[in-house]
Amino acid sequence: MNTIDYDELDDNELVRLHLAKGIRPQRFSSRSPKKVAAPLREFINTQDDTRDTFKFTYKAARFEEGWLLDSLGEFYEHKWISDVLRRVKGGKEASVYLCRAGTEVNADLIAAKVYRPRSLRNLKNDHAYREGRGNLDSEGKTVLDGGMQHAMAKRTEYGKGLLHQSWIAYEFTSMQSLYAAGADVPQPYEMAGNAILMGYIGDIDSSAPTLSEISLEKDEAQGLFDRVLRNIDTLLAHECIHGDLSAYNILFWEGDITFIDFPQVISPKINRNAFNIFQRDITRVCEYFFKQGIKANARKIAIDLWTAHGYRANPEVDIRLLDADDPKDRALWQKQKSGH
Ligand SMILES: Nc1ncnc2c1ncn2[C@@H]1O[C@H](COP(=O)(O)OP(=O)(O)OP(=O)(O)O)[C@@H](O)[C@H]1O
Ligand SMILES: [Mg+2]
Repeated sequence: MNTIDYDELDDNELVRLHLAKGIRPQRFSSRSPKKVAAPLREFINTQDDTRDTFKFTYKAARFEEGWLLDSLGEFYEHKWISDVLRRVKGGKEASVYLCRAGTEVNADLIAAKVYRPRSLRNLKNDHAYREGRGNLDSEGKTVLDGGMQHAMAKRTEYGKGLLHQSWIAYEFTSMQSLYAAGADVPQPYEMAGNAILMGYIGDIDSSAPTLSEISLEKDEAQGLFDRVLRNIDTLLAHECIHGDLSAYNILFWEGDITFIDFPQVISPKINRNAFNIFQRDITRVCEYFFKQGIKANARKIAIDLWTAHGYRANPEVDIRLLDADDPKDRALWQKQKSGH
């Protein structure tokens, strides 16, 4: 079985890898990779090596296997998963795997979202989302430590690792509060390092498609559209805007929808781009449902929801919104669509 050879990693790589796994240098006396590497190597040697015992059904490529052993080892150790069955999808930011749940989890199947190493990450305009948003540590708590904040502000290697961790923590903690609020999101189970365990939508043979992958009957479309808007409303009621909502991040299974993919959530109270991002979410949803025969005025829906929750609508909207009732907008939308 292919595993990472820690002795071959240089000090920087070793520390970065262990940051991604949630092993933070504060447990050691310093944050400098040079000073941390030696005690970290000692620490690794004292750990039970799950990588020798964790064998899974999924036939991963060599690099992927080492990466999975490292990313999911802790879940296996705690009996949250017992096997990795297959890769559901490899996305831009992360890959999602179907796992057999372990004895500590009350489910049969479970999904593991494993984030790519941060070097491969390409989150466009991340500053628009991070605006006003504090950073979270690997336990989902706001980072208050001055040294850590400094490292993030200065974008040191250590700081970039912390920022990456913060995205993952936002995804997990948002899912926790939204699940508790009754929104249609997968049940979040655990977060460790660069991976999140959550409820799996689908069955053993096939995973739930995204709305973008299917067409709906018009009768069904109206009900689902209402359901999507109810969820957007629930999110807003809990001071949360998805930030990347579209038919690509909504799963459909047995007549129900599930919102997924939350790392870029923003707060309507804190982020100054909130209204624009909120409108864009709604516009994308309306675009999909327009194709399914549902006419809706995205701008009106956005403003109505926004003001219903007591927020002030921003009159300087700089995002071009498409109005499904406007023939010019429909023509523009067709043009944009064929341009893809
Ligand atoms: N809980 C789940 N149950 C079943 N399938 C899931 C689940 N979560 C995610 N998936 C599948 O994995 C894909 C990628 O997940 P997600 O959108 O969260 O990650 P991503 O890396 O941001 O992907 P992308 O960049 O393509 O949007 C989804 O499109 C969906 O097909
Ligand atoms: Mg996605």
